[in-house]
Amino acid sequence: MTDASDNSAQATPGRHEGTAVRRAAGGHTPGTSGYDAELRRHNQMLRRVCDVRLHDRVLDIGCGTGQTTRQAARTARAGSALGVDVSATAIERAREVARAQGPGNVTFEHADAQVHRFPQEHFDLAISRFGTMFFDDPVAAFANIGLALRPAGRLVMMVWQTHERNEWDVTIHRSLAGPEGPVAAASAGPDPFSLADPPTVKRILGAAGFADITFTDVHEPVYYGPDVAAALDWVRGFTCTSEVLKRLEPAAAARAVGRLRETLSAHLSDDGVWFDSRAWIITARRH
Ligand SMILES: C[S@@+](CC[C@H](N)C(=O)[O-])C[C@H]1O[C@@H](n2cnc3c(N)ncnc32)[C@H](O)[C@@H]1O
Repeated sequence: MTDASDNSAQATPGRHEGTAVRRAAGGHTPGTSGYDAELRRHNQMLRRVCDVRLHDRVLDIGCGTGQTTRQAARTARAGSALGVDVSATAIERAREVARAQGPGNVTFEHADAQVHRFPQEHFDLAISRFGTMFFDDPVAAFANIGLALRPAGRLVMMVWQTHERNEWDVTIHRSLAGPEGPVAAASAGPDPFSLADPPTVKRILGAAGFADITFTDVHEPVYYGPDVAAALDWVRGFTCTSEVLKRLEPAAAARAVGRLRETLSAHLSDDGVWFDSRAWIITARRH
C-alpha cells in the first residue's frame, strides 16, 4: 500500500474526531470523503516539516485512525511509530488497517496522552495532526509528552488557527444560524481552536519544558467531498452541526439543512467541495 492510497480514516473515533473535533459520535462513514481526504493538502505540508528520519522513534499524539502514524513508520524503516488516542474506536480501526496494510513497525495504544505513562526519553519525535488541542490541562499534557521525548527531541503539531480565519467554521455556523441569528450554542466541549494563539502556545509549551518554538502558517483548503450530497453528509456529521440541528424544531432544522446545502453548492468546483482554512504547524524542542 502506498502512502498516497493510505486513506482509511473512515471510522467514527468518538467525541474528539473530525474537522477540529467536530464529528458526531456514532456511525459516520462518508464513502468518498473522510478525514484523511479532507486534510490531504495539509498532510503534505505536515509531512515535510515532520521530516521523519530512517532511525526515528515517533510518537503520534491523538492519532485517530492512524494515517500519519503509518506514514511516519514507513519513513522510519529502521525505527518505529506508536500512535495513541483516547478513542477506542479509532485505535481499533487504526490497528485493523495496520494489520491489513502494514507497516510492521507501527503500533497503536488506547491512551490519554495527557497522563499516559510513556517510556521515558524514548522518542525522537512527537507528531500530531490536529490531535493536541483537546487536553484538559495542556501544560501537564505537553510536560508528559516531553518526558517521553529524548533530550532535544522534537515536537511537530498541526493545529487550527482562530475560528475567524477558518472559512469552513465561520460558514457552517453562519449557514446554520440563518436570518434568525445564532442558534443556541452547542454544549461546551473540547475547543478545536485552543492552540490558535501563538503567545498562549508559547506560554504553554515553555511551561511544559519546550524551547525553540516556531509557527508556520498553513493556508490550504479542506476538502468535504466530491459533490454536494457527499459534502452535506460529511458536514452533518460534525458535532457542531448535529448539535445545532438537534436543538431546532423540525421545520427550522430542515431550513438550516437547506441553507447548508446552498453554501456547499457555492463551494463546489470541478474537483469537489472545498473551503478555505488556516492552520499552524508548531515546532518545538524538548530542553
Ligand atoms: C481531530 S482528530 C485528529 C485525528 C488524527 N490525528 C488525524 O489527523 O486523523 C483529534 C484526535 O485527538 C484525539 N484526542 C483528543 N484528546 C486526546 C488525548 N488527551 N489523548 C489522546 N488522544 C486524544 C481524539 O480522540 C481524536 O482522534
